[in-house]
Amino acid sequence: MKDVLTIEGIKQILDYPLEIEILDCVDSTNDYLKRLAKDQFVDNKVAIAQKQTNGKGRRGRSFYSPDESGLYMSLLIRPDSLSLSSATKITTMAALAACYAIETVTQKQSYIKWVNDILIDDKKVAGILTEATVNFETKLVDYLVVGIGFNVYEPSEGFPTEIAQIAGSILEKQQPSIKNKLCGQFLNEFLKLFNHPQLFSYQEYRERSYVIGKEIVVHALDKQRVALAIDIDKDCHLIVEYSDQSKEVLSSGEISVRKL
Ligand code: BTN
Repeated sequence: MKDVLTIEGIKQILDYPLEIEILDCVDSTNDYLKRLAKDQFVDNKVAIAQKQTNGKGRRGRSFYSPDESGLYMSLLIRPDSLSLSSATKITTMAALAACYAIETVTQKQSYIKWVNDILIDDKKVAGILTEATVNFETKLVDYLVVGIGFNVYEPSEGFPTEIAQIAGSILEKQQPSIKNKLCGQFLNEFLKLFNHPQLFSYQEYRERSYVIGKEIVVHALDKQRVALAIDIDKDCHLIVEYSDQSKEVLSSGEISVRKL
């Protein structure tokens, strides 16, 4: 049976009064909301697309977003008083919320590849891209767009060769209402953490880490360094140790897990 996204289906799960729009096709749900936010006052709005033609990942990468198989969504919020430094925690909250949602809806255990990838059985099944606009005067976040793409099912034509080794899907075959449930549950979990940051459990984040104890490559602007991912601290920063025994605490950035 086909898994069809509907506003009514999402609202049955949703605990928050959000405006939801489902688009057949858009370049990127993040860009769509950012365009809206520029022209008019929008807040607490969710844009979901059946398909994206220019799905964006972090660091200028693209996010493969074909029709039918995925759930591509973004949430726009205007926080009351959020500094840019605290905004970095948002991706962390979204990652934990995504794991909770996947676990509740599918009973599958998922893991976080620091900082924004969600994995099941060593394959990336979701990615998060958080974008923010900051008010130059106040240095506070004007609006925040939290975008997440779930590979709910395997695309009918399979994943493109470039990502076939790393991408995976949450479920093998279509089941009714999974996308509505994942969407509603993710929004509930994320907004609960966003509105009550004291409920965020760094231990639960840490327990789901895909990288602790693994050999990784830390990608900096000008170089790449092999390191051991030792731990995640209370701020969800990644502690790594290099071969010369020096340690570094990474607050953001890009890592990849080394294939043995
Ligand atoms: C990554 O893997 O680096 C992040 C991927 C984020 C993809 C989602 S899909 C919905 C939203 N719209 C986008 O263009 N990107 C995010």
